[in-house]
Amino acid sequence: MPNKIFKFPPGFFWGASTSAYQVEGGITNDWSQWEKSGARIKELKARGKNPDDYISGLACNSYEMFAEDLECLKELGVSSYRFSIEWSRVEPEEGKFNNEAISHYQEQIKLLRQNKIEPFVTLWHYPLPLWLKNKGGWESGDMEKYFCRYAEKVVSEFKNEVVFWTTLNEPDIYCGFSYLTGKFPPNKKNPLAYWRALHNMIKAHRSAYKKIKAISPKAKIGVSKHNIYFEAYKNRLANVILKKMADWWWNFYFLNKIKDYQDFIGLNHYRRDTINYGFNKNENKIVSDFGWELYPESIYYVLRDLKKYHKPIYITEHGVSDGQDKHRSWFIKETLKNVHQAIKEGVDARGYSYWSLLDNFEWADGFTQKFGLYEVDRKTFKRTARPSVKVYAEICKNNEVRVD
Ligand code: BGC
Repeated sequence: MPNKIFKFPPGFFWGASTSAYQVEGGITNDWSQWEKSGARIKELKARGKNPDDYISGLACNSYEMFAEDLECLKELGVSSYRFSIEWSRVEPEEGKFNNEAISHYQEQIKLLRQNKIEPFVTLWHYPLPLWLKNKGGWESGDMEKYFCRYAEKVVSEFKNEVVFWTTLNEPDIYCGFSYLTGKFPPNKKNPLAYWRALHNMIKAHRSAYKKIKAISPKAKIGVSKHNIYFEAYKNRLANVILKKMADWWWNFYFLNKIKDYQDFIGLNHYRRDTINYGFNKNENKIVSDFGWELYPESIYYVLRDLKKYHKPIYITEHGVSDGQDKHRSWFIKETLKNVHQAIKEGVDARGYSYWSLLDNFEWADGFTQKFGLYEVDRKTFKRTARPSVKVYAEICKNNEVRVD
């Protein structure tokens, strides 16, 4: 008999997440162009990497194999699925929308609904169509206009079947990697460009929020925000000051700017960052394949700090890169215990979506990281359940976490 049962509120959404470019395959956009560029290949070779591992190609072939993904979702017994629409498929040329791509996603949404799986649809999860990249991408002053036109089109097509919309995925991570560290295309290291892109995202989200509401008053709209638990080591003054600054900038700046333009907060959460006269001074007792510390308590603090916005919270991503499935079940359960605690203390958390359903294309790290509940064979695309699938399926079925 388990010692303890943590029961979740009725109607809590149990889900799994993916994004288009990471799973669909066969996409042409700014990322696909960059990953095949001479500069990228040269840089990978210089680091002793095999460039083939960093080209998304057919990814998990999910565009062709959604039926298999649906089988995985059914086996898990999830009540929600978070995925993104690929902008470059829907609007491959400026202002010209592709009906085939729209029908594809409509079919996907229909199948989810038939299986009582709530679609959580993300409009933009990183890459851009080539025509838009050529106009300057997120640095362009017209981005608000382009994003709204795309959002209006998608929402009018899907409004009868979709309630939950995420406009943008992790604006902070994207802007940081694309404009400060240069890890993501357009590979810039330019604080001004960073500032411009981030503020264009704020504008784009606010306008899209109003437009989406006008088209679909029942729509619930948010962003997926990547928040970190900054912990001030031993509450030493210097650490506390750094923590306050990091919280203000990383965790709350964007949310404060859009606070009157969201119906819920989408939370993506992966880790803590211990501050001890500098960042990233974690204990690292247990780490993922990615080298990220696994500290399940962190989500409690992050959730608690979001209470001030008085909005429902959906955890739109949380997960671990763990090819051997050594820590995944433990990490999910312990994290959920902390989510449960936060709910008990009045946090309005209404859903948890594991990242990711499948092993997929982990952006600049290619296929080297294994976040999936399901392993994916790189040649046949066969999906194989990792042992954690059983554990998570039990949680989804019973709406509770049992701990021995
Ligand atoms: C992103 C995902 C990514 C995951 C793991 C999040 O920052 O939204 O696309 O795969 O983290 O790194």
